[in-house]
Amino acid sequence: MYADDKKNFKIKDGAIILAIESSCDETAASVVRGGREILSSEIISSCSEHIKFGGVVPEIASRAHTAAISIAVENAIKNAEITLSDIDAVAVTYGAGLLGALLVGVSYAKALAYSLGVPIVPVSHIRGHLAAAYLVDKDLKPPFVSLLASGGHTAVIVVKDYDDFKILGSTLDDAVGEAFDKVARVLGLQYPGGPNIERLAREGQNVVPMPKMLKGEGGYNFSYSGLKTAVINYVHRCEQTGTKYNKADVACSFQHAATDILVEKAIEACGEYGLNTITIGGGVAANGFLRDNLSAVCKKRGIKLVLPPKILCTDNAAMIGAEGYIQYKKGNFADLSLNAKARVDLG
Ligand code: KG4
Ligand code: ZN
Repeated sequence: MYADDKKNFKIKDGAIILAIESSCDETAASVVRGGREILSSEIISSCSEHIKFGGVVPEIASRAHTAAISIAVENAIKNAEITLSDIDAVAVTYGAGLLGALLVGVSYAKALAYSLGVPIVPVSHIRGHLAAAYLVDKDLKPPFVSLLASGGHTAVIVVKDYDDFKILGSTLDDAVGEAFDKVARVLGLQYPGGPNIERLAREGQNVVPMPKMLKGEGGYNFSYSGLKTAVINYVHRCEQTGTKYNKADVACSFQHAATDILVEKAIEACGEYGLNTITIGGGVAANGFLRDNLSAVCKKRGIKLVLPPKILCTDNAAMIGAEGYIQYKKGNFADLSLNAKARVDLG
């Protein structure tokens, strides 16, 4: 029985991992060697099918994954110039995310791993975002400070070891990406909100007053609900009173407020914990304004910044291969009862 065999798999250095990610609207597959080297990374997005609904529709996403997964995996294998027999393990995102979407990846991964006789490595999507940095800087080793800024999470984390995290703080309400998406909607911008706010913000100025973000007594925690509501109220007030307002200025001011606090808290964590390296992950880390700001502040303070390219910040499977390798080396294998989970703890 496969489930009993899982303890007997030989764990190899530099293992070739086929990774699968299907937690939201990207069907992704990647081949990663030794957790650090991307041999291929394929992403098939169903984003365009969700635009008219203003957000991801779970049922549409699941169907799109079903249609795309074989293609993504076949392309990943072909572009990595390997064959099925070269694969040492199959890593798959089992959570957090949309259940139906996750199940497509999990079922596919189980079937593939079973047929190849290799282990299944279950990977947390959140951990995957953090591990993307290992693909960028081959010498990166814990400890360091990691900033997680995605559609579902916002956190400042001390990565003490590859598999040992201290969460200094996280969001008390909305995630930063969620705030980008909601503010985008009220400004009449299409899904996905983040990149559209960024584009519009380039034409505006930081002149619209925004509420103070959680500092001091908030420690490393974040709160984005107040900021989001302030923007929504500002826009509604202007519309109701027929006052002209500049959408680009609103986007720019919001973007400043939403991202400045991320930079501030990451830098603070370095100081408090005596660390000199910051990494960043999650879709919001693709924001050019945040990237420039964080790069400038780190440079000024002599802090090393590991900034994954944008394509490794938004959802992808290479990051699942990076985290998958860490779990593979620990022998964290699943059996065929592996199930998808909508929520997974950050740690
Ligand atoms: O990490 P991700 O792709 O999925 C989750 O795990 O949540 O993050 C998606 C989030 C969305 O809220 C999206 O609006 C935001 O990342 N995002 C951005 C940018 N690109 C994606 N936010 C701000 N600026 C961007 N350029
Ligand atoms: Zn993500």
